Amino acid sequence: SKPRILVARAIFPDIVDRLREHFDVEANPDDVIWTPQELAARLADKDGVLTTGSQRIDGALLSAAPRLKICANMAVGYNNFDVDAMTAAGVQGTNTPDVLTETTADFGFALLMATARRMTESEHYLRAGKWTKWSYDMFAGSDIHGSTLGIIGMGRIGQGIAKRGAHGFGMKVIYHNRSRLSPALEAECKATYVGKEELLRTADHVVLVVPYTAASHHTIGAAELALMKPTATLVNIARGGIVDDAALAVALRERRIAAAGLDVFEGEPSVHPDLLTVPNVVLTPHIASATVPTRRAMANLAADNLIAFFDGRGPLTPVNQPSTLR
Ligand code: GLV
Ligand code: GLV
Repeated sequence: SKPRILVARAIFPDIVDRLREHFDVEANPDDVIWTPQELAARLADKDGVLTTGSQRIDGALLSAAPRLKICANMAVGYNNFDVDAMTAAGVQGTNTPDVLTETTADFGFALLMATARRMTESEHYLRAGKWTKWSYDMFAGSDIHGSTLGIIGMGRIGQGIAKRGAHGFGMKVIYHNRSRLSPALEAECKATYVGKEELLRTADHVVLVVPYTAASHHTIGAAELALMKPTATLVNIARGGIVDDAALAVALRERRIAAAGLDVFEGEPSVHPDLLTVPNVVLTPHIASATVPTRRAMANLAADNLIAFFDGRGPLTPVNQPSTLR
């Protein structure tokens, strides 16, 4: 009999149909948000699951799902996985790197430009009927071209943003990362490695693209915001929790930095109420990888990971290497 798979959230129906050619599939076409208990109950008899970032896979869930062998995340980030618990239990995890890199880098750049040039703030003003005359400093923002771009987290997406900034907009690019890029990659990105404090002090625009881990929790809090230039902008397309949202709201309100662009939030889909009332922040609902072709590519890669795993070919894009599998 075919392995049993749960598709935990609604995804493209034709990709669910493709999974049905290989598996006995329980899907969630109505996109019900299950509690952890409801998810565990559905996984009790499943061999595999296609998750999104909104399902937590931890030791308790793995105990309640004794047949579960693989969790295929439809996201490049996988902080919803307790990877150590999965590896200890012999459960394979996979993610969707590469297919979303350029789309997500495009969005990071769009959010940077919208933030520096105050695009949503000015649109709200226009829509509210407040535009009655021109004035010399109306929505005057900061420049992108020729400015210094500081990137924290120089993986594939960070490199994509660096290339856009350096080659497209003549920006000076500095970066901070756990490890330095090779000289060849630094040259390709025209990027210079600096310490985190130097980056925060000298960048005109800071873009965050680090994975969320215990070590990257609140990479940007009150102390880091205080190091930034009062004219600087901050963009977070990484994960909620990389930034201390409460501290950021204070810094924006007090104009200790000029503006922020946020696609991810602590506790999303809730947003810190103070971020909703400060004008100098551009807010988007975690859509950096959301183009139709890229979301299809992510869903197909998650499906291909399940298919390759149960075919015995091994996962295509693993996030862990359990020494023995369930
Ligand atoms: C989206 O946030 C992802 O990790 O792919
Ligand atoms: C702006 O529209 C200008 O003409 O300078």
